[in-house]
Parts: sequence; structure tokens; C-alpha cells
Amino acid sequence: MKIDPWSSSNYQDYARLRDEFGIENFNEKIWKELPQPHKLLRRGVIFGHRGYELILDAIKNKKPWTILTGLMPSGRMHLGHKMVIDQLIYYQSIGAEITIAVADIEAYAIRNLSFKETKNFALSEFIANYIALGLKPKKCRIYFQSKNQDVKDLGYILGKKINWSQMQSTYGFTGSTNMSHVFSPLVQTGDILHVQLKKYGGNKPTLVPVGVDQDPHIRLSRDIAKSYRLYNVTKTKDNKIGVFVKTDEKVKELLNFAEEKLKQIGFKKIKKITDYKAIYIQDAEEKDIKKINKTLAKIEPKHGGYGFFQPSATFHRFMTGLTGEKMSSSKPESAIFLTDEPEVAKKKIMSSKTGGAVSLEEHKKHGGKPDECVVYELFLYHLIEDDKELQNIYTSCKKGTQMCGMCKKYASDLMGKMLFDIQEKRKKAKQKIDDYLS
Ligand code: TRP
Ligand code: SF4
Repeated sequence: MKIDPWSSSNYQDYARLRDEFGIENFNEKIWKELPQPHKLLRRGVIFGHRGYELILDAIKNKKPWTILTGLMPSGRMHLGHKMVIDQLIYYQSIGAEITIAVADIEAYAIRNLSFKETKNFALSEFIANYIALGLKPKKCRIYFQSKNQDVKDLGYILGKKINWSQMQSTYGFTGSTNMSHVFSPLVQTGDILHVQLKKYGGNKPTLVPVGVDQDPHIRLSRDIAKSYRLYNVTKTKDNKIGVFVKTDEKVKELLNFAEEKLKQIGFKKIKKITDYKAIYIQDAEEKDIKKINKTLAKIEPKHGGYGFFQPSATFHRFMTGLTGEKMSSSKPESAIFLTDEPEVAKKKIMSSKTGGAVSLEEHKKHGGKPDECVVYELFLYHLIEDDKELQNIYTSCKKGTQMCGMCKKYASDLMGKMLFDIQEKRKKAKQKIDDYLS
């Protein structure tokens, strides 16, 4: 199996995907630690993560952290896109700082759109909807990739530690892939890591909520972040805690800086072996590694490094389209767009594919399959806040007392209201866009 961020593959078996790619399970144990956890987090829609511990730790200890996403301004914004924004708005409500990249370089390289087209589109379609959905301007910054020199520079600079075979095996690039396309994952790495530059507040845990199609980019950014570290802190084979300098230059200086810092934070039994490029901390234990690592990461920018935290990510399931395949902008009948007229959306719901049995008789007798029902998915992802109400529909469906007609009617009413509300707010959003742009 391969994850290709630019194809429209329909991923179904998320548990298998998680195992195969080493994504961690995002379970109850995690979301229960969050204040007022959002429904997408509570209901298994967010099914996996990489490195979320850093984010939890920052939230619990009120330490700075940031959340970042990007949008490719091609195609209309539908309910699948809304999921990411719902998460941003949730995290903003608990104090997170938000950064949003408009991926116009990627849209140019992959979708063949001009910068003028993507600009208009990003403003009128995506950003207007984000504001209408409730994203606040405070602690929120939206920028265009093509206009952010730091992002582009970083992409170029960090590309040095990735070679062509890695790019080929990660993305399936071939001899005929155009070079702008080849460069676009590095620009995305620039997006993801630039928020840790001093100018943007310095090193901090960063959360990137994405669909699983973006995992190759996440892995690339995490690999790059790690390979640019100057120090590596680990437990050695003979069970000592060691700090190793990873570069070949300025080894002595770097060892001295680390030694000094380690003393400052209270370690006393420090043994430096310059030939091994190492410091062994005899009075440290495994549980100290995290703290030591963080402390050393902080001094790296002063000594020519970056000290990046590896970016964290959460992965959400994709929405099933109303026709049964993946929800996609290129198939308008499969998707509900945020700019759909409420009446249009209602019609799409009324003619959608449910998990109901073949006949009413059968349905009453054997019940329906909410797990395979797109109308149920609308409730689960977007329309019903109350977990009990949702649970009732689920069990009544299985028992055969809830009929598809009832569900469709209820879903289209709720959807109609939601879209009408967004429509009204979007009208006012247009004048507010400048408050968000950097
Ligand atoms: N590649 C993403 C997409 O296809 C867009 C994107 C650009 C992005 N930069 C990002 C997503 C940074 C998350 C983080 O939609
Ligand atoms: Fe879906 Fe409702 Fe029909 Fe059950 S009764 S299959 S939840 S539409």
C-alpha cells in the first residue's frame, strides 16, 4: 500500500493503515485529557496521531504550542474540508495559536492554477468560509506560500538533508515529474517548521491536523526536523544516558555548551569524551531524557542549529460521499459544499445512499447499518452535538425502529439550517478578511 497525497484514493481500512505506517492510535485515553473535547475527537473520526504527547503536555502545562494547517485553493470547499477547520476552531477556543498556509505554490505545481486564480479563490472560497465557521482573528495568521520568504527559504535549505531516492520512494516521483511538483513537499515542510523560527516565536510543539493522505508530508517534516538537530540524547546500549553531537563541525564547542547547560539544570556527574563526540551523564535516568532533550534543543538556534521539535499530527477519516465513494470536489453530487444553497444540499441528502435494508419490511425486521450509512455520518461528523442523541439514532437504526426517511428528513433540516447560517455569516466575512492576513 502507498499513500499518495495527490491522488483521490479512497482509504477504508484505517486500522490497517495505522499499523502499516506506524501511526499511533488516537483513543479515549488521549481525548479525555482535553478540556471539552470536540466531537470529532470523541467519536473516533480522528483515528490516529504522531507525537501528540507533546501537544497534550503543552496544553496541560499551559506551555506555548501552535497548530498549523494548509489549504490547496483548488476546488470548492466541502464538508470534508470543514472537519479540519472545526478542529482549528476547537483548539483556538482552548487557547491555541493558529497558522494557516494557502498552498498556492502547490496548487500551481500540481493543479496547474495561476497565482492570480488561487488568490481569488482562496479569499472568496476558503478564507471566507473559515471566518463564517467561526475562526477568530486573535492569535490567527493566514499567509500565502508564494509570499512568505521564510517558508520558501526554509524549504530550500532543509532540502539538503533529503535526497532524490528518498523523494522517489516517498512520493513515487519519476523522471517525468515536474520540478515544481518535486519541490512542493519541501515548501510544505517549510510551512510546517517555519512557525518554530525565532521570528515566529521560537521552538514549540506544533500540531498539524490532516487527512491520512498527508502522512508522507508529515513523515518528511518529522524526519527533517530530527535530522537537523545538533544533539541526540539517548540511552546507550550499556544503559547510560548520553548526549551525542551529530555534526562534524564545532564538536568541542558544542560539547562545552551542552556541558554547561547540563550543569545549570542540576546534573553533577558529567563525563565528556570528545573523541566519541559524547557526554555521559552518570546521575541521569531514562526519565530525564525528555527534559535534557528539550533543554538542549533550546540552545541549538544560538549555535547554528534549529532545535526543532518534531511536528505532531492527528489524522482524520475521510467523509464518505453521498453517492457512496469518497467525498470529492470533482464529483459535485458526492459532496455538500459550504456554498451550496440549502435547498440543493437537502436534495442531495434526500437522494443519498443510506445503510438501510433493501425494503421497509426488511429494515423493520433486521434493522439498518448505521456504520455504512452516509446520513449517519453527517450526524456523526457535523450535525449532532449531543452524544446521547446520536447513540439513540444508532441503536434505533440497528433495532429497525428508526427509518431512513426519518433520518434523511432530519439531516436535511439540520443541514439546511447550518448552511443558511454559514451563508449569512459569509456575507459579513468578506470585509473581515484583512484582519487575518499577515
Ligand atoms: N498539501 C495540503 C493539501 O493538499 C495543503 C498544505 C500545504 C498543508 N501546506 C500544508 C497541509 C501544511 C497541512 C500543513 O491539502
Ligand atoms: Fe442510516 Fe438512519 Fe437509515 Fe439507519 S435509519 S441506515 S442511520 S438513514
